[in-house]
Amino acid sequence: MTAAAPPGLETPEVAIVRPAARLRGDLRLPGDKSISHRALLLAALAAGDSRITGAGDGADIRSTAGIVRALGVTVEQAADDGRTVDYLVRSPGVDGLREPEWILDCGNSGTSLRLWAGLLAALPMTAILDGDASLRGRPVARIIEPLRLMGAVLHARRQDSLPPVTVVGRRPLRSAHVRTPVPSAQVKSAILLAALGAEGETTITESVATRDHTERMLRARGVAVRTLPERGDGVTIALTGGGRVQALDERVPGDVSAAAFWLVAGAIHPDAELTLRGVGVNPTRRAAIDLLRRMGAEIEEAPGDSTAAVGSDAGEPTADLTVRSSALRAIDLDPSDVAAAIDEVPVLCLAAALAEGTTRIRGAGELRHKESDRIAGVSAGLTALGARVEVDGDDLAIHGGARLRGAATDSLDDHRLAMTFAVAGLVADGETAVGRPASASISYPGFFADLERIRA
Ligand code: S3P
Repeated sequence: MTAAAPPGLETPEVAIVRPAARLRGDLRLPGDKSISHRALLLAALAAGDSRITGAGDGADIRSTAGIVRALGVTVEQAADDGRTVDYLVRSPGVDGLREPEWILDCGNSGTSLRLWAGLLAALPMTAILDGDASLRGRPVARIIEPLRLMGAVLHARRQDSLPPVTVVGRRPLRSAHVRTPVPSAQVKSAILLAALGAEGETTITESVATRDHTERMLRARGVAVRTLPERGDGVTIALTGGGRVQALDERVPGDVSAAAFWLVAGAIHPDAELTLRGVGVNPTRRAAIDLLRRMGAEIEEAPGDSTAAVGSDAGEPTADLTVRSSALRAIDLDPSDVAAAIDEVPVLCLAAALAEGTTRIRGAGELRHKESDRIAGVSAGLTALGARVEVDGDDLAIHGGARLRGAATDSLDDHRLAMTFAVAGLVADGETAVGRPASASISYPGFFADLERIRA
């Protein structure tokens, strides 16, 4: 019953997951990764103390905390229970930030790289952002090009397409009207953070609305950010530069992207009931819940508190979710579904492999630019486990009704693939080997411990 990579073992090469007879449990998830990054980064801009409760304790968040420290800000770790952490950030404010002495290490974190590039572009200092081998393969032209429209100076390897990124900051930047090249909350947020240091109003139009945590959190901190009524050409956000970001305490909700693994586990397992407490259900983040429901997943939702500190559109709604064994059926995902559930698509592919009928996913090309090529990785892993997956360019067809049998899978050092294949192992016959499972701790330290806990 136990994984060969017991919780606590630092860098196991494989985790062996055996099928579970029943799944039962009541879980609290790590703090939301996107909100944790933003809470740290905005606390660095705000003069004074900001308390962050329940932040994610994954390696990505530690990368952002390290960058905050490198700018001369004090980040105290108040409490740490192994998966969430409370921080006290004491900042001199934006004008007191110090030019970093060393290269800023974003580790595996694309969010750290893109958001800090935008923020640093409007600070009077030079900084270099770098990371691990995976991060060095991730595209940055998507931020460099729009930031240059604002007068920002950034350079990157391979004709400004790949990290490391050198940012020669300058203040003020000039405002711009930007249409993002791909629907990406990271790109939108990089521009919003640069726009704080620009003269005049910057607008950003994206073809499909992406997660709006940056907008909500800026509003809560006193910055005027407007989301304009949707027209035919997408969603536009407007921000006037020059305002101050005020210090604010933040309570981080449970990570809905982490919850998705257990929602799928509960839905595909024949004898399951799992409750997930305090999950963030922001309308721009909850697509995986709604797509699973469209597939027939029995998911109950009991509204929790809002984390709103100021105003109703500034906080984050939460809910307790209960999932039970379900008879799933295939659905079609279009490019806007992919954008809305970008991090959950791999585990939704697992649900599709066990649903009735063929699930078709169109326009999933962005998945190739994540921590790994997730189209290649998920199709290789699910195929090894006995599913039938067809890839045609950026589209996938997953034929349902698979009987999964344990096999060797490779996470490609990608946390979301490691967790997807581990969940598959709960329902596959025999033993499933998850290669490079330690990557789970990028967003979910304690994942393998929770996997063992929910075996009734
Ligand atoms: C994130 C946005 C998404 C997502 C990533 C976190 C964020 O990336 O994949 O895990 O916090 O803004 P893109 O917006 O680039 O798709």
